[in-house]
Amino acid sequence: MDENKTSNNEEKKIIFSGVQPSGNLTLGNYLGAIKNWVELQKDYSCIYAMMDLHTITVRQTPADVRRRTFEVLALYLASGIDPKESVLFIQSQNPNHAELGWVLDCYTYMGELQRMTQFKDKSAKHAENINAGLFTYPVLMAADILLYQADYVPVGKDQMQHIEICRDIAQRFNALYGDVFTIPEGLLSKTGAKIMSLQEPQSKMSKSDPNPKAYISMMDDMNVIAKKIKGAVTDSEGVIEYREGDPAKAGVNNLLNIMSAVTGKNVNDIAADYSGKGYGDFKSDVADAVVECIRPIREEYDRIIKDKEYLMQICRDGAEKARYLSSRTMRKVYKKVGFVQL
Ligand code: TRP
Repeated sequence: MDENKTSNNEEKKIIFSGVQPSGNLTLGNYLGAIKNWVELQKDYSCIYAMMDLHTITVRQTPADVRRRTFEVLALYLASGIDPKESVLFIQSQNPNHAELGWVLDCYTYMGELQRMTQFKDKSAKHAENINAGLFTYPVLMAADILLYQADYVPVGKDQMQHIEICRDIAQRFNALYGDVFTIPEGLLSKTGAKIMSLQEPQSKMSKSDPNPKAYISMMDDMNVIAKKIKGAVTDSEGVIEYREGDPAKAGVNNLLNIMSAVTGKNVNDIAADYSGKGYGDFKSDVADAVVECIRPIREEYDRIIKDKEYLMQICRDGAEKARYLSSRTMRKVYKKVGFVQL
């Protein structure tokens, strides 16, 4: 980084976000998060991470975690995140996350964590492994954000409760010790609607869905993507119309939202283009549009993923920047709570 760039970046507001390297990234992750992150690079100083510390709150196959960490990184890069503009790093490569996480554990109440929807959902889903890390997950996430004094955190709706508790913890700490942390704000994706499952359009498209027909993985072959869209659940009404909130229209709404996210056109305008036409034509056009959106990213991804040395170098540079950027906050926190500085 040259000097001008550094001072430039310091004036920009700070964005922090991350994705866990668990499961295959879906079209939902791309349209709902990563695509938006690429655009934010223009106006903000962005820090994006692979959240591997969070991933081990659920039992994983170690080789899969390792492989997926690079897959996530390669997908960030292929989507247009520029490692010269933004900081890209692996969470576990910056020990400040775990350290601040511990301090903040001591400023977070059991009752607050017990109320977290994601904790309740995940403990129901993994009843055999309700570990303490799963419980304190939101505190580590608060540390991720507060370490970098982030102003904004682009997340999906399901993560908003975690942003709320992060703000509560930061305000509590600031009330005790003065202005240590910037109070961050959640930033809901501009892309708008949540991308839903293709098979059960009432629930979110999830990379951990046991039915692979329910989601489009960014790693799927182009013909598989087309097939999955053509097989998406709709309804028997046969009318292409956007009716938000109508459960009978959930499948069609979802396809319209997907089409809108990849083409940038408004859902109602798209629906109007198909008045009098059948689901077959519509699905086939959605399939083409999605394939055209993913194809160039995939081609770039396939090239980058083979270049391990390049990926490793980005991780090394990113980790160094992340440690540097967060060290100031860490020192301040340790001083405030009374730890000896040598
Ligand atoms: N909890 C987020 C998710 O599962 C991932 C995450 C961890 C995160 N730490 C973060 C997102 C900090 C934004 C900021 O999607």
